[in-house]
Amino acid sequence: MKIIHFSSIDSTNKYAKDNYQSLDNLTFISTDYQSEGKGRGNHNWMANKGENGLFSIFINDSSIINQYELLPFMVPYLIGGYIEDNYKLDVSIKWPNDIYVNNKKVCGILLESRIPEYIVIGIGINVNQKIFNGDYAHLPSSLSLELGRDIDLSTFLDTLFDYLYRKLSSLNLFKEEAFTYVCNRNYLLNKDVNFIYNNVSMNGIVKGIDDKYNLIVEVDNKLLTLNSGEVNNIK
Ligand code: BTN
Repeated sequence: MKIIHFSSIDSTNKYAKDNYQSLDNLTFISTDYQSEGKGRGNHNWMANKGENGLFSIFINDSSIINQYELLPFMVPYLIGGYIEDNYKLDVSIKWPNDIYVNNKKVCGILLESRIPEYIVIGIGINVNQKIFNGDYAHLPSSLSLELGRDIDLSTFLDTLFDYLYRKLSSLNLFKEEAFTYVCNRNYLLNKDVNFIYNNVSMNGIVKGIDDKYNLIVEVDNKLLTLNSGEVNNIK
């Protein structure tokens, strides 16, 4: 495993994409701070310097690239499982791949790719941050706030990188387990939600996740299948 660390950078995902021709498979690019952290959709990812996990994993090995469609649930399974096993926090997964603890978002995942050349898995985990100023699309929290104590960030990241490196090298061994894991922790299940479908804003009730990891939503007694986009519960 290779780790490239920056004390500050615009975005680790952008670095991985800009340097895709020279990076090795399973290179971890991490940073203490991002000036232009990128979130899903048009969102930014804001995180205080030195308090959080901010990293991207670069992949160009065809054995993983060929399993690209599994990553939206494999990655939250890996990160969620790591948080549960090490910190005994109750994790839920907000489809497709946000990680929630106690109804608050602690981790976001941004998958970017240029198939068949590469995949970049961008991960932002709020670890020790306690004050969240700014405009957040989802109520944020951190592992430290939910635990009531600080976490040694460098040990947290070293152990996590090692774990992810091993697991990503053998993805096909645990895909059923990962799928069951995320379905059992579906944060949106039975909730009233709002989403955009064919450019129209709609409300519905989440009924589950199908075997292709699409979200099933009931609208006016009909079932719609969503394969991407942002779905938010109506408060
Ligand atoms: C989300 O919107 O929930 C996804 C957030 C992903 C943030 C991470 S932080 C490291 C990596 N680099 C980026 O610019 N974004 C991802």
